[in-house]
Parts: sequence; C-alpha cells; structure tokens
Amino acid sequence: MKGIILAGGAGSRLYPLTLVASKQLQPVYDKPMIYYPLTTLIEGGIRDICIISTPQDLPRFRQLLGDGSRFGLKFDYREQAKPEGIAQAFLIAESFIGSDHVTLILGDNIFYGGDTFQKAFSEFKSGAAVFGYHVHDPERYGVVAFDTSGKAVSIEEKPKSPKSNYAVPGLYIYDNAVVSIVKNLKPSARGELEITAVNVEYLRRGTLRVQRLARGFAWLDAGTSSSLHEASAYVQTIEKRAGIKIGCPEEAAFHAGFVSLAQLQQIVEEMPHCEYRAFLETEVVAEAKRLH
Ligand code: G1P
Repeated sequence: MKGIILAGGAGSRLYPLTLVASKQLQPVYDKPMIYYPLTTLIEGGIRDICIISTPQDLPRFRQLLGDGSRFGLKFDYREQAKPEGIAQAFLIAESFIGSDHVTLILGDNIFYGGDTFQKAFSEFKSGAAVFGYHVHDPERYGVVAFDTSGKAVSIEEKPKSPKSNYAVPGLYIYDNAVVSIVKNLKPSARGELEITAVNVEYLRRGTLRVQRLARGFAWLDAGTSSSLHEASAYVQTIEKRAGIKIGCPEEAAFHAGFVSLAQLQQIVEEMPHCEYRAFLETEVVAEAKRLH
C-alpha cells in the first residue's frame, strides 16, 4: 500500500495566516498540521509516501520532513501546480503508485482513536474503502447515505439538502483502478476533479465499502480559523490529561518498527531541548528501555 498526503490549496479560508505559510504547516497545538495525517499513515504501516503541495509550498515541506529517513520512510515530493481537485493527486502520483493500492489522506484531516484504519489497510484487497462520520454540518462535506441494511446508496459532494448526517472524512483507500477512473473524470462545475466523483464511480461498480466510524473516534478538520482552534484545544486537552502526544511521527515510526531504539535515540539527541523532546525521551525511549 502506497500513501499520498495532499497538502495543496491556497488555504484562503485561513487568510491571513496562510499568506506566507501553507495551511498544512500551521500549528495544531504543538506541532505542524501535516504531522497528524503523516502519523496516521505510519500507524497504518505505510512507508512509501508521496507528499503533494503547491510549487511555492513544496520546498517548506521538504525542509520540515526531509527525505523521510528519520522516520524510516521514503518520501516522494510532487507539485500540484493549480488547485484542480483532490482526485488530481492520483494523476500527479501515477508513476509513484505504480501497480499498488493507494491511500490518500488530506493534509488538514486529523484522526485520533482506535485501530480502524490499521485494520482497513491490512484487510484491504480491492475496490475502494471509505468511511462515514456523524457530524452536525454534513453540507460542508461529501455525504454518504445508507439504506436500512446499512449499505451505502449515495454519495454527494456538499449537498444543499444532505440525505444523512454522515460525512466522508479525508482518508480514502483505493485499488489501482483509481488511476484510470480519474483519467475518465470530467471536471465539476467548480473546475475540479472531485474525490466524490471517484467514490460515486466505485459505488456504481458495486466495489465501494463504507465503514461508519465509531462514536469514540475523533475526526477533526482544521481548514477554518475556528476548526483550527478547536483542533488545537482538543489535542491539548487529551495530551495534558493522558501525558501522551497525538500525531508524533517519531513515536509512531518507532512503534511500527520503522526505526530502531538506537536510531530514535540519535534523532532525539539532535532535537533542541523542548517539550517534544522531553516527551520522546521520557515516554518513548525510557519506557522502551524499561520494558526490555
Ligand atoms: C473535501 C472533499 C469532501 C470531504 C472533505 C473532508 O472537501 O471534497 O468530500 O468530505 O474534504 O475533509 P474540502 O475540504 O476540499 O472542502
């Protein structure tokens, strides 16, 4: 399974924050936003990751994340010259995907809790797997409706009159057919290759699975000033209460076995003294030593 993080867009809803730094580089409490979706992919065991952003912002992501080796990963950076839709990511990353399955995660989506995605990645065989999450404002999202047996019957992008309260979060798992599906898509009225149109095509083929995410699971998007603030507050609350970190790729990479304890120690030693380093030292490195 390959992974794509789409971190494009103008971030106009966050203006003026996004005048000089892209949306996915903004802080969500104590780390850059992209750390969260990156951690989700690492927790799912995905090592080959393509990071897509605008020509202006891509150098910043490279500066932040490097070639991936410090997380035991391999990064491939690609440009999305114009914001022509989420589904365009599969055309930009076609040669990166090769003949594999692929997961796309949006750079401003934050997930926390449970092992639903890990299971979905390891059990995935073909077709498409997406998720449904109960929200109070479904009209902001792709919306999936179910029949009485729980089978998905429709998916619509930002409908004025949503048929359900289930939004489709920005994490999509597809087989290799996704590339040819996107090649046959026509841009929508707003001039974009819509991810919802991809899901509608898999639904038409009868190969779309939609799993409803459990209530205890948190899905936050951080695309507006208030949702960004709420996401920060949520992360701070959980981190303080539990003494853990959400969205810490170094920790996830160590637990996934992508970096050894010795490598992690080395990485930590190169960090300046700060809360982030202290967490890795005491909760991850020292804890691992204690257990071995
Ligand atoms: C996009 C998708 C939408 C999805 C949402 C998840 O919307 O078009 O289907 O539900 O991401 O965050 P956007 O954030 O681009 O408005």
